Amino acid sequence: MKKFYIEGGHELAGTVKVSGAKNAALPIISAALLGSGPSRLEDIPNLRDVRNLAKIISKMGARVNYENNTMEIDPRRLEHFATDPELAGQIRASYYMLGVMLARVGQARTSLPGGCSIGNRPIDLHLKGFKSLGAEVDISQGFVELKAEKLKGSRIYLDYPSVGATINIMLAATGAEGQTIIENAAREPEIVDLANYLTVMGAKIKGVGTDVIRIEGEEELQGEEHRIIPDRIEAGTYIIAGALMGEDVYVKNVLVEHIKPLLAKLEEMGVALEEDIAGVRVAAPEKLKSVDIKTLPYPGFPTDLQAQMMVLLTQADNASVVTETVWEDRFRHVEELKSLGARINMDDNSALVKPARLSGADVIATDLRAGAALILAGLKAEGVTSVDNIGHVERGYEDIEEKLTGLGAEIERAEETIESQVTTA
Ligand code: EPZ
Repeated sequence: MKKFYIEGGHELAGTVKVSGAKNAALPIISAALLGSGPSRLEDIPNLRDVRNLAKIISKMGARVNYENNTMEIDPRRLEHFATDPELAGQIRASYYMLGVMLARVGQARTSLPGGCSIGNRPIDLHLKGFKSLGAEVDISQGFVELKAEKLKGSRIYLDYPSVGATINIMLAATGAEGQTIIENAAREPEIVDLANYLTVMGAKIKGVGTDVIRIEGEEELQGEEHRIIPDRIEAGTYIIAGALMGEDVYVKNVLVEHIKPLLAKLEEMGVALEEDIAGVRVAAPEKLKSVDIKTLPYPGFPTDLQAQMMVLLTQADNASVVTETVWEDRFRHVEELKSLGARINMDDNSALVKPARLSGADVIATDLRAGAALILAGLKAEGVTSVDNIGHVERGYEDIEEKLTGLGAEIERAEETIESQVTTA
Protein backbone atom coordinates (compact mmCIF):
# COMPACT_ATOMS: atom_id res chain seq x y z
CA MET A 1 0.00 0.00 0.00
CA LYS A 2 1.09 3.57 -0.60
CA LYS A 3 2.09 5.63 2.39
CA PHE A 4 2.94 9.25 3.09
CA TYR A 5 5.45 10.23 5.75
CA ILE A 6 4.72 13.76 6.87
CA GLU A 7 7.02 15.82 9.03
CA GLY A 8 4.78 18.17 10.99
CA GLY A 9 5.30 21.75 12.04
CA HIS A 10 6.29 23.36 8.74
CA GLU A 11 4.49 26.59 7.94
CA LEU A 12 2.73 26.76 4.59
CA ALA A 13 3.10 29.66 2.17
CA GLY A 14 2.47 30.28 -1.51
CA THR A 15 -0.23 29.52 -4.06
CA VAL A 16 -2.07 26.28 -4.68
CA LYS A 17 -4.39 25.77 -7.65
CA VAL A 18 -7.58 23.78 -7.26
CA SER A 19 -8.42 21.17 -9.93
CA GLY A 20 -11.74 20.49 -11.62
CA ALA A 21 -14.43 18.90 -9.45
CA LYS A 22 -14.38 15.10 -9.34
CA ASN A 23 -18.05 14.89 -8.41
CA ALA A 24 -19.03 17.09 -11.37
CA ALA A 25 -16.64 15.39 -13.81
CA LEU A 26 -18.07 11.91 -13.20
CA PRO A 27 -21.71 12.68 -14.15
CA ILE A 28 -20.62 15.01 -16.97
CA ILE A 29 -18.38 12.33 -18.54
CA SER A 30 -21.39 10.01 -18.30
CA ALA A 31 -23.71 12.58 -19.87
CA ALA A 32 -21.37 12.92 -22.86
CA LEU A 33 -22.78 9.55 -24.00
CA LEU A 34 -26.13 11.26 -24.61
CA GLY A 35 -24.72 13.44 -27.41
CA SER A 36 -25.15 12.62 -31.08
CA GLY A 37 -21.51 13.68 -31.65
CA PRO A 38 -18.21 14.14 -29.79
CA SER A 39 -17.82 16.28 -26.66
CA ARG A 40 -14.70 17.98 -25.36
CA LEU A 41 -14.51 18.33 -21.58
CA GLU A 42 -11.89 20.54 -19.94
CA ASP A 43 -10.47 20.60 -16.41
CA ILE A 44 -11.18 16.93 -15.89
CA PRO A 45 -9.04 15.99 -12.86
CA ASN A 46 -6.59 13.14 -13.40
CA LEU A 47 -7.90 10.78 -10.73
CA ARG A 48 -8.33 7.06 -10.51
CA ASP A 49 -12.16 7.28 -10.42
CA VAL A 50 -12.12 9.40 -13.57
CA ARG A 51 -9.75 7.04 -15.38
CA ASN A 52 -11.91 4.07 -14.37
CA LEU A 53 -15.05 5.71 -15.70
CA ALA A 54 -13.22 6.48 -18.94
CA LYS A 55 -12.31 2.78 -19.21
CA ILE A 56 -15.92 1.77 -18.55
CA ILE A 57 -17.32 3.94 -21.33
CA SER A 58 -14.51 2.87 -23.70
CA LYS A 59 -15.46 -0.76 -23.14
CA MET A 60 -19.05 0.17 -23.97
CA GLY A 61 -17.84 1.40 -27.35
CA ALA A 62 -17.20 5.15 -26.83
CA ARG A 63 -13.94 6.59 -28.12
CA VAL A 64 -12.10 8.40 -25.34
CA ASN A 65 -9.00 10.50 -25.58
CA TYR A 66 -7.72 11.91 -22.27
CA GLU A 67 -4.69 14.19 -22.15
CA ASN A 68 -3.69 17.25 -20.12
CA ASN A 69 -6.96 17.32 -18.19
CA THR A 70 -9.01 17.40 -21.39
CA MET A 71 -11.23 14.48 -22.27
CA GLU A 72 -12.68 14.01 -25.73
CA ILE A 73 -15.53 11.56 -25.85
CA ASP A 74 -17.09 10.30 -29.06
CA PRO A 75 -20.17 8.20 -28.32
CA ARG A 76 -21.17 7.50 -31.92
CA ARG A 77 -20.02 3.88 -31.85
CA LEU A 78 -21.46 3.06 -28.44
CA GLU A 79 -22.77 -0.49 -28.72
CA HIS A 80 -23.15 -1.98 -25.22
CA PHE A 81 -25.76 -1.00 -22.66
CA ALA A 82 -24.02 -2.96 -19.87
CA THR A 83 -20.92 -1.95 -17.94
CA ASP A 84 -17.92 -4.21 -17.43
CA PRO A 85 -18.61 -5.77 -14.00
CA GLU A 86 -15.05 -5.68 -12.74
CA LEU A 87 -14.47 -2.05 -13.69
CA ALA A 88 -17.93 -0.94 -12.52
CA GLY A 89 -17.33 -2.58 -9.15
CA GLN A 90 -14.38 -0.25 -8.60
CA ILE A 91 -16.28 2.97 -8.98
CA ARG A 92 -19.60 3.82 -7.50
CA ALA A 93 -20.37 6.55 -10.03
CA SER A 94 -20.65 3.81 -12.68
CA TYR A 95 -24.33 3.79 -11.68
CA TYR A 96 -24.75 6.96 -13.77
CA MET A 97 -24.66 4.56 -16.72
CA LEU A 98 -28.13 3.47 -15.58
CA GLY A 99 -29.70 6.89 -16.18
CA VAL A 100 -27.67 7.52 -19.33
CA MET A 101 -28.30 4.19 -21.09
CA LEU A 102 -31.95 4.19 -20.10
CA ALA A 103 -32.31 7.57 -21.82
CA ARG A 104 -30.22 6.53 -24.81
CA VAL A 105 -31.44 3.01 -25.60
CA GLY A 106 -34.11 2.18 -23.01
CA GLN A 107 -31.95 -0.51 -21.44
CA ALA A 108 -29.14 -0.50 -18.87
CA ARG A 109 -27.24 -2.97 -16.72
CA THR A 110 -24.54 -2.51 -14.11
CA SER A 111 -23.29 -4.14 -10.94
CA LEU A 112 -25.00 -2.99 -7.77
CA PRO A 113 -22.71 -0.45 -6.15
CA GLY A 114 -21.22 -2.12 -3.11
CA GLY A 115 -21.08 -0.85 0.45
CA CYS A 116 -18.41 1.63 1.35
CA SER A 117 -16.76 2.73 4.52
CA ILE A 118 -18.94 5.81 5.10
CA GLY A 119 -22.35 4.15 5.36
CA ASN A 120 -24.92 1.92 3.82
CA ARG A 121 -25.28 3.75 0.48
CA PRO A 122 -28.55 2.35 -0.92
CA ILE A 123 -29.84 3.32 -4.39
CA ASP A 124 -33.57 2.97 -3.66
CA LEU A 125 -34.26 6.61 -4.62
CA HIS A 126 -32.55 6.19 -8.00
CA LEU A 127 -34.67 3.10 -8.67
CA LYS A 128 -37.87 4.81 -7.50
CA GLY A 129 -37.18 7.53 -10.06
CA PHE A 130 -36.49 5.10 -12.91
CA LYS A 131 -39.67 3.15 -12.12
CA SER A 132 -41.70 6.32 -12.04
CA LEU A 133 -40.42 7.11 -15.56
CA GLY A 134 -41.70 3.71 -16.70
CA ALA A 135 -38.66 1.46 -16.39
CA GLU A 136 -38.82 -2.12 -15.17
CA VAL A 137 -36.19 -2.78 -12.55
CA ASP A 138 -34.68 -6.21 -12.07
CA ILE A 139 -32.14 -6.87 -9.35
CA SER A 140 -30.45 -10.24 -9.21
CA GLN A 141 -27.06 -11.68 -8.32
CA GLY A 142 -25.54 -8.31 -7.60
CA PHE A 143 -26.67 -6.67 -10.85
CA VAL A 144 -29.33 -4.12 -11.57
CA GLU A 145 -30.98 -4.17 -14.97
CA LEU A 146 -33.43 -1.62 -16.33
CA LYS A 147 -35.71 -1.87 -19.34
CA ALA A 148 -38.28 0.51 -20.75
CA GLU A 149 -40.28 0.33 -23.96
CA LYS A 150 -40.92 4.03 -23.66
CA LEU A 151 -39.92 6.46 -20.91
CA LYS A 152 -42.59 8.94 -19.88
CA GLY A 153 -41.97 12.09 -17.88
CA SER A 154 -43.45 12.08 -14.38
CA ARG A 155 -43.41 13.82 -11.00
CA ILE A 156 -40.91 12.31 -8.57
CA TYR A 157 -40.61 13.31 -4.93
CA LEU A 158 -37.27 12.33 -3.36
CA ASP A 159 -37.60 11.38 0.32
CA TYR A 160 -34.09 12.81 0.75
CA PRO A 161 -32.29 15.27 -1.53
CA SER A 162 -29.82 12.65 -2.78
CA VAL A 163 -27.11 13.97 -5.09
CA GLY A 164 -26.75 10.71 -7.02
CA ALA A 165 -30.50 10.11 -7.38
CA THR A 166 -31.12 13.68 -8.58
CA ILE A 167 -28.38 13.28 -11.20
CA ASN A 168 -29.46 9.83 -12.35
CA ILE A 169 -33.10 10.85 -12.70
CA MET A 170 -32.11 14.03 -14.58
CA LEU A 171 -30.03 11.94 -16.99
CA ALA A 172 -32.84 9.42 -17.58
CA ALA A 173 -35.45 12.18 -17.92
CA THR A 174 -33.62 13.66 -20.93
CA GLY A 175 -34.87 10.58 -22.81
CA ALA A 176 -38.45 10.64 -21.49
CA GLU A 177 -41.45 11.94 -23.38
CA GLY A 178 -42.86 15.11 -21.81
CA GLN A 179 -41.98 16.79 -18.55
CA THR A 180 -40.30 15.27 -15.51
CA ILE A 181 -40.45 17.13 -12.23
CA ILE A 182 -38.02 16.21 -9.45
CA GLU A 183 -39.20 17.52 -6.09
CA ASN A 184 -36.95 17.77 -3.03
CA ALA A 185 -34.07 17.60 -5.49
CA ALA A 186 -30.47 18.06 -4.34
CA ARG A 187 -29.02 21.54 -4.97
CA GLU A 188 -25.28 20.83 -5.04
CA PRO A 189 -23.16 22.92 -7.47
CA GLU A 190 -22.09 19.72 -9.25
CA ILE A 191 -25.74 19.19 -10.25
CA VAL A 192 -25.90 22.73 -11.60
CA ASP A 193 -22.71 22.11 -13.59
CA LEU A 194 -24.18 18.94 -15.11
CA ALA A 195 -27.38 20.80 -16.00
CA ASN A 196 -25.36 23.59 -17.63
CA TYR A 197 -23.58 21.05 -19.81
CA LEU A 198 -26.82 19.23 -20.70
CA THR A 199 -28.38 22.60 -21.56
CA VAL A 200 -25.63 23.52 -24.03
CA MET A 201 -26.09 20.06 -25.51
CA GLY A 202 -29.72 21.01 -26.14
CA ALA A 203 -31.62 19.74 -23.09
CA LYS A 204 -34.42 21.81 -21.58
CA ILE A 205 -33.90 21.97 -17.83
CA LYS A 206 -35.27 24.51 -15.36
CA GLY A 207 -34.91 25.03 -11.65
CA VAL A 208 -31.46 23.54 -11.03
CA GLY A 209 -29.97 24.88 -7.83
CA THR A 210 -33.48 24.89 -6.31
CA ASP A 211 -35.35 21.91 -4.90
CA VAL A 212 -37.68 21.57 -7.89
CA ILE A 213 -36.09 20.62 -11.21
CA ARG A 214 -38.10 20.40 -14.41
CA ILE A 215 -36.79 18.51 -17.43
CA GLU A 216 -38.45 18.50 -20.82
CA GLY A 217 -37.32 15.24 -22.45
CA GLU A 218 -36.67 13.91 -25.93
CA GLU A 219 -34.71 16.88 -27.22
CA GLU A 220 -31.93 15.96 -29.65
CA LEU A 221 -28.64 16.40 -27.74
CA GLN A 222 -25.41 17.42 -29.49
CA GLY A 223 -21.83 16.80 -28.40
CA GLU A 224 -20.45 20.01 -26.88
CA GLU A 225 -17.53 21.69 -25.11
CA HIS A 226 -17.64 22.25 -21.39
CA ARG A 227 -15.24 23.26 -18.61
CA ILE A 228 -15.78 21.54 -15.24
CA ILE A 229 -16.24 23.77 -12.17
CA PRO A 230 -13.44 23.92 -9.58
CA ASP A 231 -13.59 21.29 -6.84
CA ARG A 232 -15.12 22.98 -3.78
CA ILE A 233 -14.08 20.15 -1.46
CA GLU A 234 -10.47 20.23 -2.63
CA ALA A 235 -10.54 24.03 -2.24
CA GLY A 236 -11.98 23.68 1.25
CA THR A 237 -9.31 21.15 2.21
CA TYR A 238 -6.46 23.53 1.23
CA ILE A 239 -8.18 26.47 2.91
CA ILE A 240 -8.41 24.43 6.12
CA ALA A 241 -4.71 23.54 5.69
CA GLY A 242 -4.04 27.30 5.48
CA ALA A 243 -6.09 27.98 8.62
CA LEU A 244 -4.11 25.27 10.41
CA MET A 245 -0.54 25.93 9.23
CA GLY A 246 -0.64 28.86 6.83
CA GLU A 247 1.74 31.78 7.03
CA ASP A 248 0.17 33.10 3.84
CA VAL A 249 -1.62 30.63 1.55
CA TYR A 250 -3.50 31.63 -1.58
CA VAL A 251 -5.93 28.98 -2.83
CA LYS A 252 -6.79 29.82 -6.42
CA ASN A 253 -9.42 28.64 -8.87
CA VAL A 254 -12.16 28.76 -6.24
CA LEU A 255 -15.81 29.70 -6.73
CA VAL A 256 -16.25 31.39 -3.39
CA GLU A 257 -20.06 31.12 -3.39
CA HIS A 258 -19.71 27.32 -3.39
CA ILE A 259 -17.81 27.27 -0.10
CA LYS A 260 -19.71 29.90 1.88
CA PRO A 261 -20.72 27.42 4.63
CA LEU A 262 -17.03 26.66 5.26
CA LEU A 263 -15.86 30.28 5.06
CA ALA A 264 -18.59 31.39 7.50
CA LYS A 265 -17.44 28.79 10.06
CA LEU A 266 -13.78 29.73 9.62
CA GLU A 267 -14.61 33.38 10.21
CA GLU A 268 -16.47 32.44 13.39
CA MET A 269 -13.30 30.62 14.46
CA GLY A 270 -11.29 33.80 14.00
CA VAL A 271 -9.52 32.87 10.74
CA ALA A 272 -8.69 35.91 8.59
CA LEU A 273 -9.77 35.31 5.01
CA GLU A 274 -9.41 37.51 1.96
CA GLU A 275 -11.67 36.60 -0.93
CA ASP A 276 -11.28 37.76 -4.50
CA ILE A 277 -12.72 36.74 -7.81
CA ALA A 278 -10.26 33.90 -8.33
CA GLY A 279 -9.60 32.58 -4.87
CA VAL A 280 -9.12 32.88 -1.13
CA ARG A 281 -6.10 33.99 0.87
CA VAL A 282 -5.79 32.46 4.33
CA ALA A 283 -3.38 32.38 7.26
CA ALA A 284 -3.44 30.58 10.61
CA PRO A 285 -4.53 32.92 13.40
CA GLU A 286 -2.81 33.10 16.82
CA LYS A 287 -5.87 31.59 18.40
CA LEU A 288 -8.75 29.52 17.01
CA LYS A 289 -12.20 29.76 18.62
CA SER A 290 -14.32 26.64 18.95
CA VAL A 291 -17.47 26.29 16.82
CA ASP A 292 -20.09 23.59 16.36
CA ILE A 293 -20.75 22.16 12.94
CA LYS A 294 -23.53 20.02 11.53
CA THR A 295 -23.31 18.47 8.08
CA LEU A 296 -26.29 18.93 5.78
CA PRO A 297 -27.13 18.78 2.08
CA TYR A 298 -26.03 21.89 0.12
CA PRO A 299 -26.10 24.76 0.99
CA GLY A 300 -25.42 23.38 4.49
CA PHE A 301 -21.98 22.46 5.75
CA PRO A 302 -20.63 19.70 3.42
CA THR A 303 -20.14 16.22 4.83
CA ASP A 304 -17.10 15.92 2.55
CA LEU A 305 -15.31 18.56 4.69
CA GLN A 306 -16.38 17.24 8.08
CA ALA A 307 -13.24 15.17 8.76
CA GLN A 308 -10.84 17.93 7.66
CA MET A 309 -12.70 20.49 9.79
CA MET A 310 -12.50 18.19 12.79
CA VAL A 311 -8.71 18.38 12.61
CA LEU A 312 -8.85 22.19 12.77
CA LEU A 313 -11.25 21.99 15.72
CA THR A 314 -8.70 19.97 17.73
CA GLN A 315 -6.67 23.22 17.76
CA ALA A 316 -9.49 25.46 19.04
CA ASP A 317 -9.50 27.08 22.47
CA ASN A 318 -12.50 25.10 23.65
CA ALA A 319 -14.61 22.02 22.92
CA SER A 320 -16.68 21.86 19.70
CA VAL A 321 -19.49 19.54 18.65
CA VAL A 322 -19.44 17.97 15.18
CA THR A 323 -22.71 16.36 14.06
CA GLU A 324 -22.89 14.20 10.94
CA THR A 325 -26.36 13.89 9.43
CA VAL A 326 -25.66 12.81 5.83
CA TRP A 327 -23.77 9.51 6.27
CA GLU A 328 -24.39 7.19 9.23
CA ASP A 329 -20.81 5.92 9.48
CA ARG A 330 -18.52 8.79 8.65
CA PHE A 331 -16.47 9.03 11.81
CA ARG A 332 -13.87 6.39 11.11
CA HIS A 333 -11.17 9.07 11.14
CA VAL A 334 -11.87 9.67 14.85
CA GLU A 335 -9.96 6.60 16.08
CA GLU A 336 -7.03 7.52 13.82
CA LEU A 337 -7.03 11.12 15.05
CA LYS A 338 -7.02 9.83 18.61
CA SER A 339 -3.80 7.94 17.80
CA LEU A 340 -2.32 11.33 17.01
CA GLY A 341 -3.39 12.66 20.42
CA ALA A 342 -6.81 14.13 19.60
CA ARG A 343 -9.32 14.10 22.44
CA ILE A 344 -12.68 13.21 20.93
CA ASN A 345 -15.74 11.66 22.58
CA MET A 346 -18.31 10.02 20.35
CA ASP A 347 -22.02 9.92 21.01
CA ASP A 348 -24.06 8.41 18.20
CA ASN A 349 -23.78 10.81 15.26
CA SER A 350 -21.99 13.53 17.23
CA ALA A 351 -18.40 14.02 18.26
CA LEU A 352 -17.21 16.26 21.08
CA VAL A 353 -13.82 17.56 19.98
CA LYS A 354 -11.65 18.92 22.81
CA PRO A 355 -8.47 20.94 22.42
CA ALA A 356 -5.40 18.73 22.09
CA ARG A 357 -1.76 18.70 21.06
CA LEU A 358 -1.18 16.42 18.10
CA SER A 359 1.94 14.32 17.81
CA GLY A 360 3.13 12.01 15.03
CA ALA A 361 1.97 8.37 14.85
CA ASP A 362 1.14 5.68 12.28
CA VAL A 363 -2.42 6.03 10.97
CA ILE A 364 -4.52 4.60 8.14
CA ALA A 365 -6.78 6.39 5.66
CA THR A 366 -10.15 4.63 5.86
CA ASP A 367 -11.79 6.67 3.09
CA LEU A 368 -11.02 9.59 0.83
CA ARG A 369 -11.88 12.52 3.11
CA ALA A 370 -10.69 10.72 6.26
CA GLY A 371 -7.34 10.34 4.50
CA ALA A 372 -7.23 14.05 3.64
CA ALA A 373 -7.97 14.87 7.28
CA LEU A 374 -5.11 12.66 8.48
CA ILE A 375 -2.72 14.40 6.10
CA LEU A 376 -3.81 17.78 7.54
CA ALA A 377 -3.32 16.41 11.05
CA GLY A 378 0.16 15.23 10.03
CA LEU A 379 1.05 18.77 8.89
CA LYS A 380 0.25 20.05 12.38
CA ALA A 381 1.49 17.15 14.53
CA GLU A 382 4.87 17.25 16.22
CA GLY A 383 7.28 14.77 14.67
CA VAL A 384 6.56 12.36 11.83
CA THR A 385 3.14 10.95 10.93
CA SER A 386 2.76 8.09 8.51
CA VAL A 387 -0.56 7.87 6.66
CA ASP A 388 -1.14 4.46 5.12
CA ASN A 389 -3.55 3.51 2.29
CA ILE A 390 -3.03 6.80 0.46
CA GLY A 391 -4.72 5.27 -2.62
CA HIS A 392 -8.00 6.43 -1.07
CA VAL A 393 -6.84 10.04 -1.03
CA GLU A 394 -5.53 9.93 -4.58
CA ARG A 395 -9.03 8.98 -5.74
CA GLY A 396 -10.17 12.51 -4.95
CA TYR A 397 -7.16 14.83 -4.83
CA GLU A 398 -5.13 15.45 -7.96
CA ASP A 399 -1.39 15.77 -7.17
CA ILE A 400 -1.97 16.31 -3.45
CA GLU A 401 1.64 15.53 -2.57
CA GLU A 402 3.01 18.02 -5.14
CA LYS A 403 0.49 20.69 -4.17
CA LEU A 404 1.24 20.52 -0.44
CA THR A 405 4.99 20.22 -1.00
CA GLY A 406 4.75 23.32 -3.21
CA LEU A 407 3.41 25.18 -0.17
CA GLY A 408 6.33 24.06 1.99
CA ALA A 409 5.03 20.83 3.53
CA GLU A 410 7.53 18.00 4.10
CA ILE A 411 5.97 14.87 2.63
CA GLU A 412 7.66 11.72 1.44
CA ARG A 413 5.97 8.91 -0.39
CA ALA A 414 6.89 5.36 0.60
CA GLU A 415 7.62 2.69 -2.00
CA GLU A 416 4.52 1.05 -3.35
CA THR A 417 4.65 -2.67 -2.72
CA ILE A 418 1.09 -3.90 -3.16
CA GLU A 419 -1.56 -2.06 -5.17
CA SER A 420 -3.95 -0.71 -2.50
CA GLN A 421 -7.44 -2.14 -2.40
CA VAL A 422 -9.83 0.76 -2.27
CA THR A 423 -13.55 1.01 -2.61
CA THR A 424 -15.27 3.85 -4.24
CA ALA A 425 -16.62 7.40 -3.85
C1 EPZ B 1 -22.33 12.22 -3.43
O1 EPZ B 1 -22.58 10.87 -3.06
C2 EPZ B 1 -20.83 12.38 -3.44
N1 EPZ B 1 -20.24 11.42 -4.38
C3 EPZ B 1 -20.28 12.14 -2.03
O2 EPZ B 1 -18.90 12.44 -2.07
C4 EPZ B 1 -20.95 13.09 -1.03
O3 EPZ B 1 -20.55 12.77 0.28
C5 EPZ B 1 -22.47 12.96 -1.14
O4 EPZ B 1 -22.91 13.14 -2.52
C6 EPZ B 1 -23.22 13.96 -0.27
O5 EPZ B 1 -22.83 15.28 -0.60
C7 EPZ B 1 -20.27 11.68 -5.70
O6 EPZ B 1 -20.77 12.71 -6.16
C8 EPZ B 1 -19.62 10.68 -6.61
P1 EPZ B 1 -26.31 11.02 -1.74
P2 EPZ B 1 -24.03 10.24 -3.27
O7 EPZ B 1 -27.06 10.14 -2.67
O8 EPZ B 1 -24.63 10.81 -4.50
C9 EPZ B 1 -28.91 8.37 1.28
C10 EPZ B 1 -16.63 12.14 -1.66
O9 EPZ B 1 -15.97 12.08 -0.59
N2 EPZ B 1 -29.50 7.75 0.07
O10 EPZ B 1 -26.63 12.46 -1.68
O11 EPZ B 1 -23.88 8.77 -3.16
C11 EPZ B 1 -27.47 7.91 1.50
O12 EPZ B 1 -27.40 6.65 2.13
C12 EPZ B 1 -17.93 11.41 -1.82
O13 EPZ B 1 -16.24 12.76 -2.68
C13 EPZ B 1 -30.57 6.89 0.20
O14 EPZ B 1 -31.05 6.62 1.32
O15 EPZ B 1 -24.75 10.84 -1.99
C14 EPZ B 1 -26.91 9.05 2.33
O16 EPZ B 1 -27.22 8.85 3.69
C15 EPZ B 1 -18.24 10.46 -0.69
N3 EPZ B 1 -31.09 6.31 -0.94
C16 EPZ B 1 -27.66 10.27 1.82
O17 EPZ B 1 -28.80 9.75 1.12
C17 EPZ B 1 -30.59 6.57 -2.17
O18 EPZ B 1 -31.12 6.03 -3.16
C18 EPZ B 1 -26.86 11.14 0.84
O19 EPZ B 1 -26.46 10.39 -0.29
C19 EPZ B 1 -29.50 7.46 -2.30
C20 EPZ B 1 -28.96 8.04 -1.15
